[in-house]
Amino acid sequence: MQINNTDLTWWKQGPIYQIYPRSFLDTNGDGVGDLEGIIQKLDYLKDLGIRGIWLSPIYPSPLFDFGYDISNYHDIDPVFGSLATFKRLVTEADRRGIGIIMDMVLNHTSHLHPWFIESRSSRDNPKRDWYIWHDGKAGLFGRGYPNNWMAAFGGHAWKWDPETGQYYLHLFTEEQPDLNWRNPQVQEAMLAEMRFWLDLGVKGFRLDVINYLIKDTLFRSNPYRFRLTYPRRHDLQHHQYDRNQSETYEIIRRIRSLMDSYAGTSEATMLVGEVYPDEGVHAPDLAATYIGSGQDLLHLAFDFSTIYIQLTAADLYSVLKTWYSVLSPGAWPCHVLSNHDQSRSASRLCAGPDQEAQKRLLAALLLTQRGTPFLYYGEEIGMEDGRIGRKDLQDPLGKKYYPFHPGRDRSRTPMQWDNGSAAGFTSGKPWLPVNPDYKERNVASQERDGTSLLAWYRDLIRLRDKEPALREGAIEFVESGLAENVLAYRRETAIRRETAIRRTAAIGRGEAADEVLVVLNVSGQTRPNPFRRGGTVLLSTHRKPDSPIEYDTRLAPWECTVYR
Ligand code: NOJ
Repeated sequence: MQINNTDLTWWKQGPIYQIYPRSFLDTNGDGVGDLEGIIQKLDYLKDLGIRGIWLSPIYPSPLFDFGYDISNYHDIDPVFGSLATFKRLVTEADRRGIGIIMDMVLNHTSHLHPWFIESRSSRDNPKRDWYIWHDGKAGLFGRGYPNNWMAAFGGHAWKWDPETGQYYLHLFTEEQPDLNWRNPQVQEAMLAEMRFWLDLGVKGFRLDVINYLIKDTLFRSNPYRFRLTYPRRHDLQHHQYDRNQSETYEIIRRIRSLMDSYAGTSEATMLVGEVYPDEGVHAPDLAATYIGSGQDLLHLAFDFSTIYIQLTAADLYSVLKTWYSVLSPGAWPCHVLSNHDQSRSASRLCAGPDQEAQKRLLAALLLTQRGTPFLYYGEEIGMEDGRIGRKDLQDPLGKKYYPFHPGRDRSRTPMQWDNGSAAGFTSGKPWLPVNPDYKERNVASQERDGTSLLAWYRDLIRLRDKEPALREGAIEFVESGLAENVLAYRRETAIRRETAIRRTAAIGRGEAADEVLVVLNVSGQTRPNPFRRGGTVLLSTHRKPDSPIEYDTRLAPWECTVYR
């Protein structure tokens, strides 16, 4: 894979682009996106400047949770293509310097996976212990729930199996039974599945709910917690016993050593973990524990605090600053604003007449932070949440809690390629309705317009590629602008922070001494620049590149400027 002019490994150069394959591009007219469609768009992605593609699950699945219920871990669901198409995707992506990252769902399988079919066939089946089976409690004819654990998609997390007279655990739908990760055979079997993909040239894994793998040995009930919420009892408890048990870290170490043994070097492949805290809670410190020093646990973990932020300088500052401060030395941050489970940031954080300017600000924020940025498909053209009527709902969460919870379909609508029928996504009937705004908001029209959001994303990514300070420099926030709603930070390479003598020596060796200033006016009013320093513009929503910026310049509403 070609590497940029830097020592950073590919996944540190970022950005990584998440594709929800069902919704990216359909090439056979069945209304569902496919791998061939992704291959056709690799040049688009390369041009955008991304370094990796995280594919939401593409394995065979009965689709009770749209692929997060896997019935075979070493094949491709025919709706997406075949292993041959997948191999072509890996080769073609690699040719363009893009690594493929698979979504690995380790916590649970589909109830139709052969392992579970065996496991539930009898109490003495050799695979019985591969899943989490438990007797019912005394009372209720021996069928009381073993504890109070609730499933994320509704109801109790325990499902009674009348044939064998026990409950099995499912933290998501009942079609997603939880594996017993304390069983060494389960560990071996799953590592073998991961090897299968590494052998095909996959460069990393996104590990689904990695902090759920191990559960309390005593199956203690979770403590209750008060929260005003839609009627999901799952959110009314603190998940003390069904997540984040200490043995989880041992398992991650095993997975990491598999990755390292494969790659030859410790950073050639990458693990990024979904670490989900209690609903609504900011828990960057928890995510950080799953990275440690970055040497033997995950390479990256998502801090989902950004899902709950407000679009104010103070809030952005507090979330980002906390995220950086909880990471151990050696850990590499990553940043994410949208994914397939959440409302898109363009809808969640941006609103009103300034919405388009706000989207630019979020792009600038994401792409000038220290660490790997994750983009969600369509974010680069400002795609917003779709409006999905009840009859079109697909997501189990949305169906269960309609109308209290909108479900997750709204952020999974088809990619908007052009203003033709179905937004150029399919020649058939799309599996989810296309957002009607596709006539105005689509890739084709933004590609023709040098001032589009897409062009802004490309420019930011190119700038990031060019400027060592943005790619790998330290970050230092300037707090004086916060009261005026301006977020400002300095990005500096290590050499720049050295003493004058050492700096001169390093520059003599050809190393870059670079400092870049970023100012984001998170308001619709004109504001002072907290840096009180002039310079030369590198990229700006309001100023021409290479133009001077004076020390007392005032920032235009929603202005984003990066300068030296
Ligand atoms: C987290 C995934 O992001 C979500 O989409 C899925 O439903 C659950 N894990 C269960 O796998």
